[in-house]
Amino acid sequence: MSESRIGLVGLGTMGGALALNIAEKGFDIAVWNRTTEVARRFHAEAGDLAARITPTETLEALVAALARPRAIILMVPAGKAVDEQIAALRPLLEPEDLIIDAGNANFHDTNRRSRAGGGAFLGMGVSGGEEGARHGPSIMGGGRRADWDRVAPVLEAIAAKHKGEPCAAWLGEEGAGHFVKTVHNGIEYADMQMIAEIYGVLRDGLGRSAAEIGATFDGWNRGRLQSYLVEITGKVAGTLDPQSGLPILDVIVDAAGQKGTGRWTAIEAQHLAVPVPAIEAAVAARNLSAARAARREAEAIFGAGPRPLPAGALDEATLERALVCGKALCYAQGFEMIAAASREFGWTLPLPLIARIWRAGCIIRSAMLDDMASALAEAPDRNLIFAPFFAELVRETHGALREVVAAAALHGIATPALASGVAYFDALRTARGTANMIQGQRDFFGLHGFERLDDGRKGQHGPWAR
Ligand code: 6PG
Repeated sequence: MSESRIGLVGLGTMGGALALNIAEKGFDIAVWNRTTEVARRFHAEAGDLAARITPTETLEALVAALARPRAIILMVPAGKAVDEQIAALRPLLEPEDLIIDAGNANFHDTNRRSRAGGGAFLGMGVSGGEEGARHGPSIMGGGRRADWDRVAPVLEAIAAKHKGEPCAAWLGEEGAGHFVKTVHNGIEYADMQMIAEIYGVLRDGLGRSAAEIGATFDGWNRGRLQSYLVEITGKVAGTLDPQSGLPILDVIVDAAGQKGTGRWTAIEAQHLAVPVPAIEAAVAARNLSAARAARREAEAIFGAGPRPLPAGALDEATLERALVCGKALCYAQGFEMIAAASREFGWTLPLPLIARIWRAGCIIRSAMLDDMASALAEAPDRNLIFAPFFAELVRETHGALREVVAAAALHGIATPALASGVAYFDALRTARGTANMIQGQRDFFGLHGFERLDDGRKGQHGPWAR
């Protein structure tokens, strides 16, 4: 039996799809799953690709099936399962053998695992859901560059391609790849939330049916908003539930699940002191969506929030422009966060490259990312919306964002992420803000000191009458 180029542990939806992708690209792969039957069935159902796949029944057999130095991808649930799997594998491996965690790990865990020693380790963010894993995900690598280079031919072969360029790259040491994947997911949360808010305005404000809303998003997906999330929004809205015959949206409970990556992004942004209000608003909105009993109670006490907008109050073109603006602002916040982490953790994260590997394969892929990659290549340290292309785009669209948020607020329709975009933009473009009041208050009650505007002296105090 020939030795396999790579191994994979964990044949769940994502692991199985990734293994088939690897085999399809011509690499022999050995696989192992905690439940042996799963590995057997996976192999039996692999069709033409089965010849390249070696199912194994023990970890020893998996290790024995691999060419040296070995490389094993872990696709198991993030957290404890990863530590357990590493602990089970390490004694069977040699130090140069590489373990690659391809789950949605918290980057702090990846930092810890990278520093633990005992063998080579990569943390790899993989985006694109099952379809991406099977036919081409976006891959964000972190760890030692030399370790990445060893497996890069496999990873680049299985990754999505944007105009022939693989959407897979080494981004930095230790947890850099998982950090970038986390921010990707934070942006994913914000983008999805803004889309859901526009859906709310269309449904509750304009009284549009699900089918009409689906058609609207389909149309937008042919314009500047072209993106995977807008595309699937159109499809979700246009789908009927086979059981009831109703639009599927009308039978789905309005409480969003979450596995934690969006929350990690918001938490990490706070640690880094980077404003990412769109992502924070999106996480808060998911939490509030899950509090269904409280929402029912509030509706009973205060009356239902949403009321129809007056005829002609908002047209589709305005909603589209608002979403374009919101999207640019939330991606700008995400990239600001990556830039801050790069400085804080000494990672030199390549922002233009990150935008490039997000152009295909991942959940937040969108036509706009191509322009973002160009803008970041010109000046990676500049807020994305300061780049001439995005400055012009925001100039042209922020009025629409404002109109939508104002109309929604006046008619009881919650738009927390879109509204955060207006506030972020206005605060950002206010050279003389209002934090002088906060500094005055801090000095008043705690003698914290302030800096004077006129002569720049710091640690100054007010002549407070107490
Ligand atoms: C991706 C997705 C993927 C997963 C999310 C869902 O990039 O492919 O982000 O990783 O679908 O983690 O996250 P929530 O369950 O938190 O919405």
